[in-house]
Amino acid sequence: MDFGCGTGTLAIMLKLAQPEAVIVGLDIDATALGIARDKAVRHGVDVRFDQYDGASLPYADSSFDYVVSTFAFHHLLDSQKYGALREILRILASGATLTVADFDRSHKVLLRGAFLLPRLLDGLANTRANALGLIPSMLAECGFLEVGRRERYATLFGEASVIQGRSPPSSNSRQEKSHA
Ligand SMILES: C[S@@+](CC[C@H](N)C(=O)[O-])C[C@H]1O[C@@H](n2cnc3c(N)ncnc32)[C@H](O)[C@@H]1O
Repeated sequence: MDFGCGTGTLAIMLKLAQPEAVIVGLDIDATALGIARDKAVRHGVDVRFDQYDGASLPYADSSFDYVVSTFAFHHLLDSQKYGALREILRILASGATLTVADFDRSHKVLLRGAFLLPRLLDGLANTRANALGLIPSMLAECGFLEVGRRERYATLFGEASVIQGRSPPSSNSRQEKSHA
């Protein structure tokens, strides 16, 4: 599942790369989803695009083997980030991976400065956790394991990281966690 899939480019690329995989794109924006559906038809691929209500993902518990999200989390306020991460954890199968690529705090002053433009355009409150480098700790707080930055990239608009976390290996350990 591609969380915050926008107009579906990555979801369609994933389907073209892995034709046997069931790929689903999800976004809050109906217009973007309409464009994504048209794009999938043009590419002749079977990718489903679903709308998110911003609160609960329209999927059953443990029903996905992989969730990816690119440049969507910086649009979410902290409470929405936590809500989305908890929902993603709920729908991931045991030991499955979440990969988030998004803006992150840079060690380089120039790159931190470059992130100011998207922050002003997209909103200071929803980009705050990205600017402070808090996305990995948010994953960990929500229950993801083995959380870490796998790659860092310098972009024109600041530094971006690829951050991954894994859902707990068995449903038992999740139940223990929720009862803790
Ligand atoms: C910068 S675009 C990235 C789109 C795509 N992932 C890409 O990399 O091209 C950000 C996307 O996040 C979506 N978005 C914003 N708030 C959201 C939310 N609360 N839940 C899910 N998606 C959201 C927007 O509708 C938009 O499609």
